[in-house]
Amino acid sequence: MNTLDPVLRPLLAYYQTILASHGATPLGVGWNSVKAQQLRFGKLCSVLEGEANVSVIDYGCGYGALLPYLRARPGDLDYWGYDMCGAMIEAAKVEFGNEPGTHFTTDRAELPRADYCIASGIFSFKLEADPGAWRDYMLATIDDMASLAKCGIAFNALTSYSDPDKKRDDLYYADPLEIFDYCKRHVSRDVALLHDYKLFDFTIVVRMS
Ligand SMILES: C[S@@+](CC[C@H](N)C(=O)[O-])C[C@H]1O[C@@H](n2cnc3c(N)ncnc32)[C@H](O)[C@@H]1O
Repeated sequence: MNTLDPVLRPLLAYYQTILASHGATPLGVGWNSVKAQQLRFGKLCSVLEGEANVSVIDYGCGYGALLPYLRARPGDLDYWGYDMCGAMIEAAKVEFGNEPGTHFTTDRAELPRADYCIASGIFSFKLEADPGAWRDYMLATIDDMASLAKCGIAFNALTSYSDPDKKRDDLYYADPLEIFDYCKRHVSRDVALLHDYKLFDFTIVVRMS
């Protein structure tokens, strides 16, 4: 069973609503373009560079859009899509549930340790959560991702370097340097910060072995 962090409860309703409005599409998980969603996947998947046969947890998988991206890589894939939102997991099962080597769950306790754990977009929407509480949640979630992965983790977040006039109160803008430092000190010595791809976010790639 999941014990959902209290800061996430309002978000659950938010994701249910946008999925109901827009269906299994980038808009239905809060992204405003397919191109940006795919660009983010490319940055995150640099953690898999040079690897062929891998197991991957997609932490906050939405409707599973990362799965076809991963399947296009050479080699075997064991994919675990995890999302707190039951409606997202139902949508993912409709899209991809019958594919071999594919598992979807809303239950964190069902996840095995995998080679890699990847998360796209889970730190962006905070709604009305206090920024300090959201920061604590973010760091705890990075630890959780690391506990699930043998070889590496990768995630993205909106950047505190975003233009001030574009910032919104319902979004969380993490300090890339703080997150880099946290990962370096708490997760692994091998950390990359990617902040050169013309979106208002950054990607952290951590290699653990
Ligand atoms: C912005 S959407 C992105 C979905 C997908 N990663 C993509 O890029 O298409 C974030 C998703 O992560 C899920 N999520 C956010 N925080 C989560 C958490 N701590 N545990 C599990 N799921 C989470 C939400 O329910 C939502 O479906």
